[in-house]
Amino acid sequence: MCGIFAYLNYQVPRTRKEIFETLVKGLQRLEYRGYDSAGIAVDGPKKTGNEHNQNTICLIKKTGKVKALDEELCKKDLLDLDEKLFTHFGIAHTRWATHGEPSEVNSHPHRSDKENEFVVIHNGIITNYKELKAYLINKGYEFESETDTEVIPKLIKYVYDNRENEDIGFSTLVERVIQQLEGAFALVFKSRNFPREAVCTRRGSPLLIGVRSEYELSTEDIPIQYNNALFKEGVQEKNSHNRADCSSDIDSVGDGRAVEYYFASDASAIIEHTNKVLYLEDDDMAVVSEGKLSIHRLRRKVNENPVRAIQTLQMELQQIMKGNFDAFMQKEIFEQPESVFNTMRGRICFDTNTVILGGLKDHLKEIKRCRRLIVIGCGTSFHAAVATRQILEELTELSVMVELASDFLDRNTPVFRDDVCFFISQSGETADTLMALRYCKGQGALTVGVTNTVGSSICRETDCGVHINAGPEIGVASTKAYTSQFVALVMFGLMMSEDRLSLQQRRLDIINSLKMLPDLIKQVLALDKKIKAIADELYQQKSLLVMGRGYHYATCLEGALKIKEITYMHSEGILAGELKHGPLALIDKEMPVIMIIMKDSCYTKCQNALEQVTARSGRPIILCCKDDTDICKNAYHTLELPQTVDCLQGILTVIPLQLLSFHLAVLRGYDVDFPRNLAKSVTVE
Ligand code: G6P
Repeated sequence: MCGIFAYLNYQVPRTRKEIFETLVKGLQRLEYRGYDSAGIAVDGPKKTGNEHNQNTICLIKKTGKVKALDEELCKKDLLDLDEKLFTHFGIAHTRWATHGEPSEVNSHPHRSDKENEFVVIHNGIITNYKELKAYLINKGYEFESETDTEVIPKLIKYVYDNRENEDIGFSTLVERVIQQLEGAFALVFKSRNFPREAVCTRRGSPLLIGVRSEYELSTEDIPIQYNNALFKEGVQEKNSHNRADCSSDIDSVGDGRAVEYYFASDASAIIEHTNKVLYLEDDDMAVVSEGKLSIHRLRRKVNENPVRAIQTLQMELQQIMKGNFDAFMQKEIFEQPESVFNTMRGRICFDTNTVILGGLKDHLKEIKRCRRLIVIGCGTSFHAAVATRQILEELTELSVMVELASDFLDRNTPVFRDDVCFFISQSGETADTLMALRYCKGQGALTVGVTNTVGSSICRETDCGVHINAGPEIGVASTKAYTSQFVALVMFGLMMSEDRLSLQQRRLDIINSLKMLPDLIKQVLALDKKIKAIADELYQQKSLLVMGRGYHYATCLEGALKIKEITYMHSEGILAGELKHGPLALIDKEMPVIMIIMKDSCYTKCQNALEQVTARSGRPIILCCKDDTDICKNAYHTLELPQTVDCLQGILTVIPLQLLSFHLAVLRGYDVDFPRNLAKSVTVE
């Protein structure tokens, strides 16, 4: 939920203006993570005193989107924008408020004191901040914001102020601070006492580092350095040493030659600068000192990988650009013919009708032996589980539970060693889903991740998994991730049923339909103009009901969620089977109703529901199969969709609702990619 970006140029001359541009651009790429205020910290002009020149740090913050911060930076006449800085470290943050309203004082970077001795940016949540704050206030530290984050810079200053005569390094200070923190965090620290040094760390929130150098890197596998340092209520262990000083050429990247480092919450912010990245693991601390990057951990874990590898990302910049579209969400909706194809690529062999998900094949036997499947997610990812439940039950012949992660945790749901638990998450970072994963792991179940983000926490913490390969999704309202999650789960069902004789014809129908799917999606996207015309009629309405059943119940839930998220209209996904038990009371000629009536096993029941609606003067807009004249004659408007096998039809029925919500939001004048109060990646419970 917040976005972290930082940039360190070592022996690479950059004007202050260029540094600002890099920081602002980085934040803009991360804006989907939060966008109610933004801020940066950079080196300010040196203060000239009697004895020596003192470093200063300049903090600039602004409420609103990153654009507002950018405008503010241009106005800053106290900083010489043309000044060249050979080595510099700047940090930047875009916020999604959790503690305290969006305001300049609550936005990051947060500082240790009025002199900005230590500044920090944070993504996550510090759960024990109240205790720490009380302790620090008691020690005389003054707080200015309502945030949980502010305890961190205050705490580091406290440790620094109490260092007595110890020669304590920046990374040791940070290490002592994080030992006191509970909750989730990714943190980047900057200090005027340690100019040109960067220290960052994470626990539970994502953080990665991009490296760019004209020279070959001294190593691409960085061995972890282990240290012990203790900090208890103001007492620091004397024998802890300064890690920055002890890093050598062998255990760090960079050899003192020109190099640039980019620190970010995700790769979309750094890919335009470099494709060489290092993903930090929980409790890793990365230190850059004199241009050298080294990785430290407090203590060694059993079976821990002793190195962190610099990986080469395959992502292209154009994948994350808006292209000719007005909004990322619109681009992502129109990308679906390719994104679902990419989900299947290399996994389905259409000649032999086989499906192999590489990440699951070694665990297939174990999965086949399990007692039940539990599929867990939040928001749209949960809907992908609802959408595929029926076909998974059919193909796996197992009982399948679908669960909202938060509710699953609230109930302390019984989970057993012979359960297999799937965690569906676009970002791979959603806190509730991650907590549910840790809970299921603790119960001894096999855990399977279905994510879109390589290197994410859910990816790393599950026993095995599937990457949906939909490409980066920037729009807060999830679209292409849903259809790819859908396809990935169906592929799992196909893989599970490969040796079931009785299911061969069914499998064949599904595999053939998957082959056609990208073309059918294109046909649905071609209805965009018609959908826009419907939006023109509906956009001033207050409410919108979406009704269906069977395979399309998930479409109703997901369609209504899209409408709520970005148009702020009230919308409800209604199971048509429940119509008589309440929702029918809402129907009259004014209430807009969308009905999904496809030719599948629920067709007749849906026709009955339609009659009940029209008998109450309802004027339904119906999503139906092409040339279904029976349905068309009872409809106020129809959207005729190509037909596919029943269990995949939901992919084709959801797309018109994605498009409808997009057009409604634009007509209502809202920012489609940045809906109010929401964030793309919800890393708090
Ligand atoms: C947030 C997003 C939704 C998303 C949900 C789950 O609420 O706004 O679009 O569906 O989180 O996110 P995940 O990354 O786990 O799929």
